[in-house]
Amino acid sequence: MTVQTSARESYHPPYQVTNSAETIMRFPFPFPEDTYMYSMNVEPHVRSGPVAAMHHTFDIDEHYVAECAEKARILEQDPKRCIVLPHMREAEWDFVEFAMTCLSEQYPQHFSLRREGQDWHWVNRLLGYEQSFVFGDATTLPLPPFEYMARQMQGDFTLHDQREDDLWMDGGMVTSQADWSLKFDLGMSFRQWHAPVPKAAEMGVFDRGLRFLLMLQPGKPVRRLNWTMTINPRLDTSPENFMVWGPDRASVTPENVADKVHLRVELQTLYRMPRSNAILFSIRCYLMPVRDIMRVSKWRRRLHRVLRDLDPALSSYKGLDLYRQTVVDFLAPYDDGAPLSSGI
Ligand code: HEM
Repeated sequence: MTVQTSARESYHPPYQVTNSAETIMRFPFPFPEDTYMYSMNVEPHVRSGPVAAMHHTFDIDEHYVAECAEKARILEQDPKRCIVLPHMREAEWDFVEFAMTCLSEQYPQHFSLRREGQDWHWVNRLLGYEQSFVFGDATTLPLPPFEYMARQMQGDFTLHDQREDDLWMDGGMVTSQADWSLKFDLGMSFRQWHAPVPKAAEMGVFDRGLRFLLMLQPGKPVRRLNWTMTINPRLDTSPENFMVWGPDRASVTPENVADKVHLRVELQTLYRMPRSNAILFSIRCYLMPVRDIMRVSKWRRRLHRVLRDLDPALSSYKGLDLYRQTVVDFLAPYDDGAPLSSGI
């Protein structure tokens, strides 16, 4: 995958984001069936899968530089998008070690790491960073360790302490979220931060999910896909900025629907950190306009069916009600109704 090394793209107005054919084909389309309902859709995060986005521990794609620039812009506006509670210091270093090791081993052309005892040397060629530091000594880095590293990665990250048979949201950097807030959720338990989600608790999804995660082993990461829709290629759809992006949902028309409405997919991966026993939750966001989805015949037919038959409670929770019918009407002529094989 070629990474554009300048931030010509823009994830805020005036928007300027385009996907190459390669990026479209590596998009983690989230619907293996014609209908969608919440489920315990967790599988091992092995370095393979139906699309290339799943083939690395942390996926780097052509939007890397622009997404890191957008993250820096949001952090500048609102530094509280990154918070780590003091008892998570060990988890911060776990994260630094894990991220630097994975990136340098899996993308040696872009990143390198030299370790001599506790003396480490990190190079990020895409952003032009070079840093010598003492592993475990935060005074030798220009920023706190978690923040230093999370700024150099696409997507959001949260850190979870495990105690009292529960997981607690005790840190993170969250700048590209689908309408939830780290500031609000900080210190909450697994069931508390999931409380706004309809149906899933009654279906037992969260009880099973939590039981599973409490037993997650180091070196055996798992992944799941989540999805929603976003108007414009906007990464930051946070409650903090709702007044900026919320009104866009009323701007969709039959003429602009293919370019304005984006399928927003989160490739979520979960890791047990070896020193701290914390869980790292990574949310890698992919935005694909309906116009690009249209290029894959199976995807456009399946998206039509899923949106047409979506449970009203999920449609409302995901904020789709103002424009879902417009998307369905646009896609309907391209769906011949023929059976589709399961899988993407
Ligand atoms: C939604 C975080 C693991 C299923 C959410 C939300 C957050 C979140 C912040 C948004 C809630 C809101 O509206 O305010 C996390 C974290 C996890 C985790 C930090 C791990 C540490 C899981 C697991 C499952 C799951 C393992 C399923 C087995 C869901 C579902 C939704 C959701 C179904 C609703 C998504 C939608 O319709 O857009 N999660 N989650 N989560 N989560 Fe999780």
